[in-house]
Order: sequence, then C-alpha cells, then structure tokens
Amino acid sequence: MISDAIETTQCQQKDPVDLFHSGHFVKICAPMVRYSKLAFRTLVRKYSCDLCYTPMIIAEDFVKSVKARDSEFTTSKGDRPLIVQFAANEAQVLSDAARIVCPFADGIDLNCGCPQRIHDDLKRTVDLCRKAEATGVSWITVHGRNVEERHQPVHYDAIKIIKQNMSIPIVANGDVKTLKDAENIHHMTGTDGVMVARGLLANPAMFAGYEETPLKCIQDWVDIALEHGTPFTCFHHHLMYMMERITSKQEKRVFNVLSSTSAVLDYLNDHYGV
Ligand SMILES: Cc1cc2nc3c(=O)[nH]c(=O)nc-3n(C[C@H](O)[C@H](O)[C@H](O)COP(=O)(O)O)c2cc1C
Repeated sequence: MISDAIETTQCQQKDPVDLFHSGHFVKICAPMVRYSKLAFRTLVRKYSCDLCYTPMIIAEDFVKSVKARDSEFTTSKGDRPLIVQFAANEAQVLSDAARIVCPFADGIDLNCGCPQRIHDDLKRTVDLCRKAEATGVSWITVHGRNVEERHQPVHYDAIKIIKQNMSIPIVANGDVKTLKDAENIHHMTGTDGVMVARGLLANPAMFAGYEETPLKCIQDWVDIALEHGTPFTCFHHHLMYMMERITSKQEKRVFNVLSSTSAVLDYLNDHYGV
C-alpha cells in the first residue's frame, strides 16, 4: 500500500538505466496482471532477476481512487529497482499517476503492447520506436510478434533490426524459457536486456540458471507468500505454474483442486518435504 510504503521506500531511487551500462544483459521480470505482484517480485529477485515490473495498472483509476491505489500497488524496501506499468490514453492522466507513484519507483512504463506489437512493415515499427526515443524514453521493450500472431515463432530478426536502428537500450521479449535462451537471444539480437513472463511463472529461478523450479524455490515461495499474506488463489496459482514441469498428470489432478492454504501446505510437506 502506498500509505505503508512511504517511510520505508522513499529516497532510495536508483536510475535503472545504469543497469544497461553494466556490461551484462539485464534480466527482467515482465509486467503480468495478477502475477508480478510484490511477493512474486521478491521471489524472482532472490534468483538473479535484475529488474521487475508491476502488473499493468489503469492510470485513471489509480489517480481517482485511494482504494484502487492501495489494492493495485504494494511495495517494500527491498523491492527495487522497480518499474510501474500504467495503461493510459491521456498524457495528463499518465503524468498524474506517475507523479503519485514516483517516490516509490525507479521508472514508469507505458503499456503500448496490447495488441500492437511489431508491424508487418518493419520500417513503421522502427519509425514508431524512433519517435518514442525522440520523446525521451529511457528504453523500449519489443515483443517480436505482430497483432495476428499468437503462437508463431518470435521474430528475433525484427528485434535485431530495431536494436540496430536505435540509440537507447532495447529489451527483447518473447518465448524465453531458460537462462540459455536469454543468452542466445541477447547474442542473436544484440539487445541490452531480456524480459520474461511465462518462463518465470514456470520457473522463478530460471535467471539463476536452473532448468526447472528447484524445491528450494518452492519453499521460498511458500515462505514469502505467507509472510506477505498472499490471497489463496494467487498463492495456489503460482505453485501450479511452478510445479507444472515437475508433477505428473495424476499429481496435478489432486494438487490443482486443493482449496485451502493448509491443504496445500500438507500436500507439499507429504510429497516434497517442503
Ligand atoms: C499472466 C500474464 C499477464 C500479463 N500481463 C501483462 C501486463 O500487465 N502488461 C503487459 O504489458 N503485458 C502483460 N503480459 C504480457 C507479458 O508481459 C509478455 O509480453 C508476454 O507474455 C510474452 O512474453 P513471454 O513469452 O516471456 O511470456 C502478460 C502475460 C501473462 C502470461
């Protein structure tokens, strides 16, 4: 809650652009509605994630309603560097929302990605990115698919061309599932960072080099989620994602229908000693 965050998080602002000058590609947790909340951000930061985004927040609601602010945005002292993502179609509203949140964040992101992504005519995408660059944005994240594409391969070649035409840092996004994927995409595109959504849901420890979620990470999620008072549905859904690759169909049939925190804790203890 903003009210709780004031004393603990003000005045610790870092310039996240510095991350892009570290000589390494920046490992980023994507904005994810319902999922990239404080507890999950705390978990991925423990496993080598350099920079986190909040879920998308509707700027207009955020400006108008204290209730929306308290429910949509929670942070803590260790939750840095942090980018707050807003959806807005009026500059003034975006600016007002940014002003409210700026003491608790290191940057503001405007969601332009749902659904316009790269354009079929790549020149138009490069022109759009150049216009954004000229307005003074610090970096741009590119998801390498166009509007119609859902499951088709990501166009990393297009991301590479965008990178070659820009001076500010460019972040690549799409279908990164392991640290090796992230390294390959960094080399293939020359981009300055890699942003991951579903890969981190499935394995929050992936940036630390784990191929699948280690039990220690599941234990960490349980501890962090309980400490943060995470609502049951969110607590359980994250576990379903994390355990997807390490549980059999039969185990999923039991685990996925558990309906209380105590039932989940008993299950984890009985089956994994967590
Ligand atoms: C559960 C979920 C929620 C998402 N919410 C947002 C969001 O709030 N804002 C946004 O810009 N993109 C959102 N996305 C899109 C991701 O940030 C990302 O661009 C997309 O999933 C492709 O990356 P990936 O292949 O690593 O999953 C969401 C994706 C998922 C899976």
